[in-house]
Amino acid sequence: MSERFDVVVIGAGPAGYIASIRAAQLGFKVACAEKWMNPDGEAALGGTCLNVGCIPSKALLASSEEFAKLHEAIGEHGISVENPRVDVSKMLERKNGIVKKMTKGIEFLFRKNRITWLKGHARLAGSADGFHRVEISGESGVEVHEAKNIIIASGSRPRALPGIEIDNKLICDNEGALSFDKVPKRLAVIGAGVIGLELGSVWRRLGSEVTVLEAMPKFLAACDDAVAKEAAKSFAKQGLDIKLGVKIGEIKTSKKGVSIRYEDSSGTAQVLEADRLVVSVGRVPNTHDLGLETVGLALDERGLVPVDDHCRTAVGGVFAIGDVVRGPMLAHKGEDEGVMVAELIAGQSPHIDYNCIPWVIYTSPEIAWVGRTEQQLKSEGRQYKSGQFPFAANGRALGMGHSDGFVKVLSDAQTDEVLGVHVISASASDLISEAALAMEFKASAEDIGRVCHPHPSMSEVMREAALATDKRALNM
Ligand code: FAD
Ligand code: NAI
Repeated sequence: MSERFDVVVIGAGPAGYIASIRAAQLGFKVACAEKWMNPDGEAALGGTCLNVGCIPSKALLASSEEFAKLHEAIGEHGISVENPRVDVSKMLERKNGIVKKMTKGIEFLFRKNRITWLKGHARLAGSADGFHRVEISGESGVEVHEAKNIIIASGSRPRALPGIEIDNKLICDNEGALSFDKVPKRLAVIGAGVIGLELGSVWRRLGSEVTVLEAMPKFLAACDDAVAKEAAKSFAKQGLDIKLGVKIGEIKTSKKGVSIRYEDSSGTAQVLEADRLVVSVGRVPNTHDLGLETVGLALDERGLVPVDDHCRTAVGGVFAIGDVVRGPMLAHKGEDEGVMVAELIAGQSPHIDYNCIPWVIYTSPEIAWVGRTEQQLKSEGRQYKSGQFPFAANGRALGMGHSDGFVKVLSDAQTDEVLGVHVISASASDLISEAALAMEFKASAEDIGRVCHPHPSMSEVMREAALATDKRALNM
């Protein structure tokens, strides 16, 4: 049966399902096409983020952190635990249960907001009389629907390395690495980016010997240099073996595992033997077989859908959001774009300040930042002040056994406007929200310094770092 909608969204990841909900809240008749099938054959909403990304990875990070506490940190509290053990299948069951709860939650939200879930693969099929046609290929055949507005939110998939076949048994992408049936004794990871570090941390904490092979000579190049240096020290202490500046060669699998030939940074040939390999070398947008050409849309040189600052494509009534467009591949960035586009369609004037989108890497300690790094400010020739304060001088951090790391605040030398904030510590993911809020409101470092922060709390370090930009931290 063919239906006419105000809005059809392609993809129900965080960008698409949030766009659908916001559009429905604004009174539109909305459908969302989603083709995701779980290995058990059940269709699911939620996209990469909920099924094989943010949510399952954070569940395993939390489980492995509990285990690491028993193993590595509980002793200093005067508590001893005899021989803690891991039951991997129970840990995976917990993770899968959280994923199911969340994806079923979106089904509930769709019903609540009267959003039609079009199950199957969606492709555009031309436009006529002010409507765009969408073809859905599902289990029951092909249906064609029409919509005044289309929001493309088809997300991304792992980038493949030429000649390396992912079987999700021995050689895995994120999906396989979130479902190992046992703790591999030796785990190799290609790519010391966000996934490599997070999933490398999970299995390292559970007992794997983890070696990470990274092509770039610089570690965590997107982070502020001070944070990257502190993180490298911390990960080395934990036993994550990160080799920079490598060139990956031939990879072979056998009954014994995986053998990875590579050149190290000095050009010497090396072989790494591992039981499992995770390939995490970035992600590419899902822009194939979307029928974009039928409405006159072409991709850019990176395969992304070209959009303006408000996620409008060159074709009227067609928008694109999330991982298929420029900007960081982050769930919260896609969600905000979803809200923005729905409100644009409703004739409102929403806006996103892309400079205020926070980043978090959920390692231990966590790494979080928003705005410019010190090296970016230097290269832009901007005059700035820098204030840094360590968690080691914070009573709450000491009490919690989380005294590693610091907050660094960068502010404009003349106006004192906050330009960037960098946190490396436990709960950096929560602490960074204060900085994002401050930057959205164009706050000065003095503004943060004048706000009463609860004592004792980790958040006092944010205030102290802000005061330190004026050389007046109180507890240093
Ligand atoms: P996706 O989540 O990829 O969803 C796109 C959906 O569109 C999919 O469900 C797909 O099936 C569907 N689709 C595609 N084409 C079609 C079609 N033609 N017809 C019908 N349906 C279609 N980001 C964070 O911000 N924080 C994190 O902690 C975090 N952790 C991550 C951990 C891992 C291991 C990974 C892999 C990613 C992580 N990310 C994280 C990134 C985050 O998952 C993505 O940025 C986010 O999912 C992008 O949202 P999206 O809606 O654009 O796309
Ligand atoms: P990434 O871009 O973070 O890191 C990929 C790494 O692989 C880079 O350091 C790159 O230099 C390296 N690399 C590329 N080719 C290589 C090669 N041939 N040999 C060795 N190293 C190579 O990508 P990743 O980790 O795959 O994650 C994809 C995206 O998913 C992230 O960029 C991020 O947007 C999102 N994500 C976000 C998370 C979060 O917000 N906490 C968690 C996980 C993923």
